[in-house]
Amino acid sequence: MPLVSIGKILEGKHTSKSVTVRGWVYRKRESKDIIFILMRDATGVIQCTFKKDSSGWKEAKKATIESSATLRGTVREDKRAPGGYEIGSDKFSIISLAETFPIAKDKSEDFLRDVRHLWLRSRRMNLVMRVRDETLWSIHELFRKKGFIEVSPPMFISSAVEGGSTLFGLKYFDRPLYLTQSAQLYLEALIYSLEKVYCVAPSFRAEKSRTIRHLTEYWHVEPEQAFADIDDMMRLEEDLVSYVCQKVAGKCRKELHELKINADELEDIRPPFKRITYTKALEIITHKGFKTKWGEDLGFNEEKALAEEFGKPIFVYAYPKQIKAFYCKTYRDNPDLAMSADLLVPNIGEITTGGSRVDDKDELVARMKEFGLRPEDYDWYVDLRKYGTVPHAGFGLGVERLLAWMLNLENVMDAIPFPRTIRRFYP
Ligand code: 4AD
Ligand code: MG
Repeated sequence: MPLVSIGKILEGKHTSKSVTVRGWVYRKRESKDIIFILMRDATGVIQCTFKKDSSGWKEAKKATIESSATLRGTVREDKRAPGGYEIGSDKFSIISLAETFPIAKDKSEDFLRDVRHLWLRSRRMNLVMRVRDETLWSIHELFRKKGFIEVSPPMFISSAVEGGSTLFGLKYFDRPLYLTQSAQLYLEALIYSLEKVYCVAPSFRAEKSRTIRHLTEYWHVEPEQAFADIDDMMRLEEDLVSYVCQKVAGKCRKELHELKINADELEDIRPPFKRITYTKALEIITHKGFKTKWGEDLGFNEEKALAEEFGKPIFVYAYPKQIKAFYCKTYRDNPDLAMSADLLVPNIGEITTGGSRVDDKDELVARMKEFGLRPEDYDWYVDLRKYGTVPHAGFGLGVERLLAWMLNLENVMDAIPFPRTIRRFYP
């Protein structure tokens, strides 16, 4: 009896054939003469029936939710069954009888996150994790197509990239050290060897804010490129985001359908994305009743309002330099503005920040002092401007924010298997 995946059966490949499946009991319903068991494996869920006179009846009767088991039977098409197929079963062997599973039907989001180690077995989490997998693959694929080299930056770092307020400190033997907020500074060193580099790695932020888009540990996609500027980055970003949307729309049709996401809408995400300046963005949100003044940063609500105005991803660029990081280059004809762009999407707001970097040593040191940083803490980074410095640029994209937007998730926590936030570090 061939062992087959449930996914293959649901593709109609084994109709009228005898099969064995292996997995877990997802749901169970029984009456006097018949037992319905929904079996799940990594690839899908299928309805299996046992008649009273079948040899599997006794064992099937014992089965509890989440028991692991193997099951044998004959596949038949049945329009009433979820997925359109069912297995008329004759044999059932329990591998391990599960204790009472703590997740019943209507539990709160909070509870489901408390038992995430078990909730990961749900169909929904299975589908989201599959889309996450396709997303990461397609990110690697696009960078490789464009000639970027994948590199591996350190997670222990000695000075801040994105400001001290979100820095996690730790004891490193007998001295203080930090967890990385961004690989950027290390990627900048690597471009002098490899020119076009990228990494996909965790970043850590001591975010005190409890919002739908903040994690304390998230996955960060960061490219850095020599001889490139902010416009090259915006082009790379829109290519990347569109490529991921096309790939996911093409390869995860089934998953998207089950998650009630319109694949055609994702497929329609294509470059070029609209670009507006920060100043123009302020005009738009002022019309919408926001009181934000020039020079103030855009918050979640402002960003959401902007992205919703256009209904798709848009770039905001040329921000006041004081609200962007010390490493941002400024426009030659307008030194108050940073060559920095954010990509905003509906529901989530910012999903990337990127732009041109200061490549002149004296200017970099001056910017550090403006930001209250001690240049001596960044000696090696300043070094990069001493030996053959070149114009360069890069950006950072948050994987969970990208997924939360694509899949219309309520919270970035639902885009990662074991979310970490200010309150949540278990399981
Ligand atoms: O805007 P950020 O802070 O920019 C940087 O770290 C740059 N050094 C990146 C670079 O140029 N190489 O972070 C980049 C992106 C954000 O746009 C957002 O998508 C994500 O990282 N991000 C977070 N995602 C989840 N939770 C958080 N607390 C995040 N903080 C940033
Ligand atoms: Mg940012």
